[in-house]
Formats: sequence, structure tokens, C-alpha cells
Amino acid sequence: MSESWLKNAVFYEIYPQSFYSPEGEGVGTLQGIIDKLDYVKDLGCDAIWLNPIYDSPFKDAGYDVRDYKKVASRYGSNDDAKKLFEEAHKRGMHILLDLVPGHTSEEHEWFKQSSKPETNEYSGRYIWTDSWFKGIPGRPYIGGETERNGTYLLNFFKCQPALNYGWTDPKESWQSSMDSEEAKATREAIKDVCFFWLEMGCDGFRVDMADSLVKGDDTWHQTAAIWKEMIGDIKAKFPEAKFVSEWCCPYIAVNEAGFDMDFFLDHGGNGYNFLVRDYETEGGDRSYFRADSGVSCEKFLKEFVPAYEAVKDDGYFSLITGNHDTTRISYGLSDRERKLAISFILTLPTVPFIYYGDEIGMKYLELNSFEGGYTRTGSRTPMQWDDAVLTAGREGKLYLPCDPAADAPTVESETKIPDSLYSTIKSLLKLRHSEDSLSADAPFEVLYSREDSPLLVYRRGDLKIAVNPSNSDALADVDLGNVRPVWSVGEGKTENGTLKLRPQTFVIFK
Ligand code: NOJ
Repeated sequence: MSESWLKNAVFYEIYPQSFYSPEGEGVGTLQGIIDKLDYVKDLGCDAIWLNPIYDSPFKDAGYDVRDYKKVASRYGSNDDAKKLFEEAHKRGMHILLDLVPGHTSEEHEWFKQSSKPETNEYSGRYIWTDSWFKGIPGRPYIGGETERNGTYLLNFFKCQPALNYGWTDPKESWQSSMDSEEAKATREAIKDVCFFWLEMGCDGFRVDMADSLVKGDDTWHQTAAIWKEMIGDIKAKFPEAKFVSEWCCPYIAVNEAGFDMDFFLDHGGNGYNFLVRDYETEGGDRSYFRADSGVSCEKFLKEFVPAYEAVKDDGYFSLITGNHDTTRISYGLSDRERKLAISFILTLPTVPFIYYGDEIGMKYLELNSFEGGYTRTGSRTPMQWDDAVLTAGREGKLYLPCDPAADAPTVESETKIPDSLYSTIKSLLKLRHSEDSLSADAPFEVLYSREDSPLLVYRRGDLKIAVNPSNSDALADVDLGNVRPVWSVGEGKTENGTLKLRPQTFVIFK
């Protein structure tokens, strides 16, 4: 892996419609993001993942793209996007856009053309059967809506027809192979979209449902091959472009497909969920960072460590505090529990992502679905900058309502409190940026973890980090050598080869 800015990067995910509206009402805009770049930088984040900003009917909050090359008018214009890239670069920051390669909106011009009965350039851009009476067994498809004599495959919601990258093993005459002209044309069209934005100044892409391209590809090897080729072609022209995949399988995404990073996501029952979102365990949430769960970190480490080891020479396995699809990290966790969990995420050998608002402890709200959000809507509410935003949101003047609680946190309030979650994250990121040992590439080793103990100790370069998320003191015979605490939440010390941590503590020793 060649040295890149990623190794020191800390990302901030921005959901544009909810971030900042300079007018004080309506949806957020790109100018709003420009206005708040200094805030993001000051927190310690130097890179941004921006959810889709393209023209869209917004039936899936913009993941239903109507025009890949046009900024949605509600966010501003293409010129605003260019200005955003320039302003970010002036501050030494990078911006990844969200690329949606697996499907478009049903209102995309390609789909309108593809739906026509007459054969045209776009007839093979989507996956169609050859008769209105023939479906696609075992897969979601739509019939009866177009003049074309066929049904078409969906990639996600009803509004999102699947683009055609071919099938691994075409059996029906209407199924294309990966090498077919139509599959190649789809790849070229998506590369063209990437070139368009990279030429304008973006730094790369978070790739939506990166695993979903080739149909019938149960092992993902064929989809990986497609990405390898596409990313290779793009990097030949833009060697600095970065790609992060929504795949949750770094062995394929990073090692095979050539992504720079892959996300460890909240897929039911996996090791990431177990840190803060262990909703599926019988008998209630037994997340590692819940003080009363009393469990060890083993379930997380068992998945994270091998994945980290496997990809560390090729790229990164990235951890998120949450995203626009998850419940917020505040859901079910106290302020102190969140401090420990986020400190952990920010000190692992990954490129971390902070979801906007998580740094001030914004709450997950129980809301009705809006723009295809469903249960995700409650994590997409307006960034709580100050009381004026809270009031506007509560009066229904923003994209979604704001937290009605009297103690709803705001940037204005949290930045003034010396030991707020915000201040804790900011000071830890300052340390991360000043200590090479906390860069994503610095060595990582688990020094202590047991099935029967919540205590976890790990090494990052010349730093030793100890975590005790539980309600009780933790004591262990772990000799950390001649070290002293340099940063902590709570108290911990080493004495004669014994590590002593008070309840709910996170201590970095040097
Ligand atoms: C994953 C995105 O994160 C999600 O928000 C979206 O609804 C689906 N992909 C479909 O694009």
C-alpha cells in the first residue's frame, strides 16, 4: 500500500439535508457545509463523506439518483460543489462523494429510455426479462409499469431499478454476461460519472452497496473483479482518488476489489454490532460498552483482528460511530458509555468516521418515515447547532423535527463544557493527530483480553491503552512497563506490574 493521506485522516459524515441551512429554514445546503468546514476541522476531522447530493426525486433520500452529474437544486448548484471542494482543500481537508453504482432512480433518463419498446442505446442498461409475463425468480422485480414488453429487476426500493453489470452464469437469453457490450457500457457510464466529479475536485467516493453489481455472484469474486478493473482505470487518471466500500467484507473489498477501505457495519450479529448495538442477543442489549453488560470484548476482536491483519498491507477496515442507516450511538448508551465507545473507535488502527451530531450526543428520535428513511429517519434529524435551530426544527421549518427534550444538546452548549462528549472527542483527536502511534498504520496488538473479563488492553505503537467499560474496578496482572497516563476518561494506573482501572475508564499510557 502506498503512503496516503488516509493514514492520518479522521472522517466526518455529513447528511446534507440536515446539516446546515444558512437561511435558518428549509433543508441544508452545500453553502451551509462550506460555512461549517471550520467547525469540522476544529473538531479534528480532516475529511468528509457527503451523502448523495445529486438531483433526485428523494424517495430514498437521494440514493435514487435522477441525474448523476447535477447537484439537486435544494442543495445548490454544481458551482457550489466545486467551491466546496476548493474550500475544503484550502483547509487541508478532503471530500468523498457518495457513488450509487448499483441502481438509479426510476426517473433517471437512462431508465426512461430503457423502458421504451424500441431498442436503443439504453435497452441493456438495466436488467429486463423478455416478457411482461416473466418475472425473476427469487428476486424483487416490477412489471406492468412500462411500454416495454418485460419486467425489470430492483436493487433496493421499488424506485431503484438495478443497473446491468451482467450475471455470473447467464442461463436465460435475457441475462447478459459480465463481458457483454451492455455490461461494459454500464461500467463505462459509472466511470464517466467518477471522472466528472474527480475533475471538478472531489477526492473520491464512498460506494453504496458496492457488493451488488454482478447478479448471481454469491462469492462476490466477479463483482470484485469488476471493481478492480473500474478502480484501476479511474486511478490511472486520478492516482490520489480514494474509494471506501459499503461491503463489510474487507477480504473481498480491500484485498480483491482494490478499495482503499471497507466499512465494518452494523450487520445483525456481527462483531461491530456487539460494541454498541447488540440488539439481537436474547435477553436484551449486552453491548460491550454498556456498563452493566459485564461482557468481554472477545466477540468484537474475533472478527476485527483477523480482518485487520488481512487487510493492513492493502488498506483499511473502517469503523464508524454510526451512519445514516444505523440508530445513533446515543441510543441506549449513557454519556459516559459513549465517551468510552467513541474513544475506542478513535484509537483502533482504522480510518474512523464520526457521524454528524454524534460528537454532541444527538439522540435517536422516534419519527415517522420521511423520504424513504423508515426507522432510519430518527438518526437523520437536523444538526443541533444552537437554540435557534432547535426552535426552527420543533416548529417544523427544517428537513425533519428536532429533539423536543429540554436538555437537547447543541454545539453551542457542548463546546463550552470542558468534559462534554464533544470536548473529550476533540482532545482525543488532537492527541491522535500529534501521536504517530495513533495513525491508522501504526502497529496494533491486543495485550490483554479474556472471555470472562470486560478489561481490554491493547498497544498502538509506543502507546498502551486500557479500557474498563464495566461498573466495577478492574485489576489485572498486566505489566505495561514504565508508563504514565497521557490521556484518559476516568482514572487508571499501573503499580508493580498490576494494572488498576476505576469503573468506566479509558486510559492511554505512554
Ligand atoms: C445503502 C445506503 O446507505 C442506504 O441509505 C440506501 O437506502 C441503500 N444503500 C440503497 O441505496
